Amino acid sequence: MSLEQERAKERIAAELDRGRRRSNGLTLLALDDTELLAQHSPLMSPLVWDLAHIGNYEEQWLLRAAGGREALRPDIDGLYDAFENPRADRVTLPLLRPEEAREYNERVRREVLDTLEGADLSPSPPVPAQAGKAERSLLDAGFVFHMVIQHEHMHDETMLATHQLRRGDPVLLEETPAPDAFEPPEEAEVWVPAGPFTLGTDDDPWSYDNERPGHTVDLPAYRIDTLPVTNAAYLEFVDDGGYRDPRWWSPAGWEWRTRREAIAPAFWSLEGGRWTRRRFGRHEDVPPNEPVQHVSYHEADAYARWAGKRLPTEAEWEKAARFDPATGRCQRFPWGDAEPRTRHANLGQGRLGPDPVGTHPDGASPLGVQQLIGDVWEWTSTTFHGYPGFRSFPYREYSEVFFDDGYKVLRGGSWATHPTAVRSTFRNWDHPIRRQIFSGFRCARDADPS
Ligand code: AVJ
Ligand code: FE
Repeated sequence: MSLEQERAKERIAAELDRGRRRSNGLTLLALDDTELLAQHSPLMSPLVWDLAHIGNYEEQWLLRAAGGREALRPDIDGLYDAFENPRADRVTLPLLRPEEAREYNERVRREVLDTLEGADLSPSPPVPAQAGKAERSLLDAGFVFHMVIQHEHMHDETMLATHQLRRGDPVLLEETPAPDAFEPPEEAEVWVPAGPFTLGTDDDPWSYDNERPGHTVDLPAYRIDTLPVTNAAYLEFVDDGGYRDPRWWSPAGWEWRTRREAIAPAFWSLEGGRWTRRRFGRHEDVPPNEPVQHVSYHEADAYARWAGKRLPTEAEWEKAARFDPATGRCQRFPWGDAEPRTRHANLGQGRLGPDPVGTHPDGASPLGVQQLIGDVWEWTSTTFHGYPGFRSFPYREYSEVFFDDGYKVLRGGSWATHPTAVRSTFRNWDHPIRRQIFSGFRCARDADPS
């Protein structure tokens, strides 16, 4: 086995382990059986469902699809199929108990590490983009292992949303304090010159089908906010009566606002004239300099209209995040191709919330846009669809079944997203009414070409 493959396998084994320690920390090590089996919100699964679903997905893809092995527990597959069982029904299923889920997950993992040793992870020769026929293979450059690692971290983020909705005493600890250096950049907006860039990728070994194929998109000039919209800025909209004025809302947004009787982001309340928020069981003042979090697409869209701006399209977001006007090239992350470090971005649940704006100048993109990766997922105005030439791989249910169905694209990951599960080409999506996710936004506007 080549040294390169050996290194790749060590990395995969380490990432698999990191993911599992995180999952267990959010479940078995945090809560008792009653709380793990309970449904904390109709929007979410019982945590023990996510836990065994993670193991079941790993078994299906790494042991069966890639490894050619027989099912370990054919009886449970149906329980953990996300399409067969809507989230609200999962609590009524004969789920594995927490201890059984742990044993099942550990058994799967032992066999996976076994399979990894003998796997051939060499990349297949590059295929010209036009050929279109050649299929990616599951093991190509380690893809299916990367997919399973990312899947576990995505569910860990989902479990954090469940923790946020849960009532009761705090069980999650802040691991690091918020950085206090506050250096707001001089310009509130960045001007992006007109011209082509590459949206998506053909060769990132961690990329999903929906990030492919990479293709040229030519955008007119635009302006985009240097930073995500803060709580302080969002409060001006609230205080200006933004939630009572239909002028700022789309018809669907106004309908949602009225039905929900929304007056502020989720988890906020007004106490004696002061806005406070609930965060993982803690009660605290809303910090003015943090990116606003827990807003729906409709709220982001209304704020932008009130501010005389609009949300960026996902292409505008991605160009701001990875295009270098000096070279005409695109990078994997705003700061370059290097893996994320703490100074670049707030990712991976090091804290239980976003960092104040201006605290990650080292993570700026070549165009000078900051905090694109980490902190909060950013709503874009784009409806989730397949890029031209899209081919589903390795299964339609990851992305394709959600295309063109009114889901809005979110970009950049949040503080709860693991570094392996985000990059400048990564696309997330959700219903425009959702706000239990760690969602915020920044604004954009058209620019005259001058
Ligand atoms: C990409 C976050 C929208 O959580 O619904 C998890 C990821 N796919 N299991 C989701 C996913 C299968 C997905 N998102
Ligand atoms: Fe899943």
